[in-house]
Amino acid sequence: MHDFNYKHNDLYCESVSVEELAKKYGTPLYVYSRNTLISHYRKIKEAFSPINPLICFSMKANSNMAICKVLVKEGSGLDIVSGGELYKAFKIGVSSRKIVYAGVGKTEKEIEIGIRHHIFLFNVESIPELELINKVAGRLGMRQKVAIRINPDIKARTHRYIITGHGENKFGVDFETARIIFLDKQKYKNLSVSGVHMHIGSQIVDAKPFIKAMERIIDFIKDMERHGLGIRWFNIGGGLGIIYSNEKPQTAKEYAKAILPILKNTKANIIIEPGRFIVGNAGALITKVQYIKKTPSKNFAIVDASMNDLIRPSLYGAYHEILPVRSHFYSDSKEIKDFDVVGPICESGDFLGKNRKFISLKEGDLLSVMGAGAYGFSMSSNYNSRLRVAEVMVEGSKSRLIRRRETYEDLIRTEI
Ligand code: LLP
Repeated sequence: MHDFNYKHNDLYCESVSVEELAKKYGTPLYVYSRNTLISHYRKIKEAFSPINPLICFSMKANSNMAICKVLVKEGSGLDIVSGGELYKAFKIGVSSRKIVYAGVGKTEKEIEIGIRHHIFLFNVESIPELELINKVAGRLGMRQKVAIRINPDIKARTHRYIITGHGENKFGVDFETARIIFLDKQKYKNLSVSGVHMHIGSQIVDAKPFIKAMERIIDFIKDMERHGLGIRWFNIGGGLGIIYSNEKPQTAKEYAKAILPILKNTKANIIIEPGRFIVGNAGALITKVQYIKKTPSKNFAIVDASMNDLIRPSLYGAYHEILPVRSHFYSDSKEIKDFDVVGPICESGDFLGKNRKFISLKEGDLLSVMGAGAYGFSMSSNYNSRLRVAEVMVEGSKSRLIRRRETYEDLIRTEI
């Protein structure tokens, strides 16, 4: 599944010892395996090869340019959600023909930059947004392709904050609105309204909700065809779940096997925009135990990483496996203890893991928080004026700094 493995009790990323990485680059530290990254991209590519979709890696999962470049070199496009991601996408050098742009609140400026740079598709989330894109394209004397994001009203089983395809969510438009848009599309003179988009949520481990949503949307496409309105692009979003603890997510192959028969019912070209599936298990957050603190009710391992570095446990109650970087210190003692692994931030919600079993955890030990490649660094912040951490990419026996650690000067750089 990934390239973080023990060799003689020491954790390695590919052929590099994680302890060596911590020594060289300091902690906390995000470490990524290039091989895991590429192999997950290829898993999707191969599973879907019968229909050869445009794969657009969802940058929000991890927008480090070195990570994105690896994928772009493999042929990936990028799914973006802000002017900032658009800016980074240009710097990465992805063809603008492979950029798809979703999000409910695109600003006029962001829209203008996207159109000027000929991005492939805007995934449009409301009628006012459609009108604005039409107006801006007109002002620029350009024509822009758009897809309409449809909210298929499906409730996938995942954390309530990351369901996006249910009727009460802010995303996309309902079928009736989509119908009105397509039947009326001549009125958007500067647009080619030629695609539909869906994204029903994230960390979805079974195919059923995807199937249901796709069936509904393909019925819609057929309905439009009966009105003489061809739909050339169907973007099926991302959302594939990965293993954090005991989930049994579908593999790329199983996912493809479940949905390819449905997608065969449309002539539309398919776009897919996975984030977590590609990068989630390719990254780990390495952290050092600062203090062991025992209270009458708990053992705390106070580590140098915090909720500002990885917010998923605090925000979603997400589980990330936490492994000792050196497992042989286990042999010293047979006593297993429960620890809450917590950071230095001044909130009780600041934890990376609760009630985790370790043997003789002591100050100075290194821990590896697994599955941190997606929505890890990309959701990090400077809360408590903490410095954002460094990121390193491992390739075989080599490691390379792909983001330097922030300094105190960085912290005040933009303040006046
Ligand atoms: N496409 C669109 C339009 C999206 O909004 C997203 C994610 C994706 C694709 C990629 O989804 P993925 O394949 O990664 O599931 N911060 C949360 C996840 C939020 C997902 C937001 N949208 C977390 O840490 O679990």
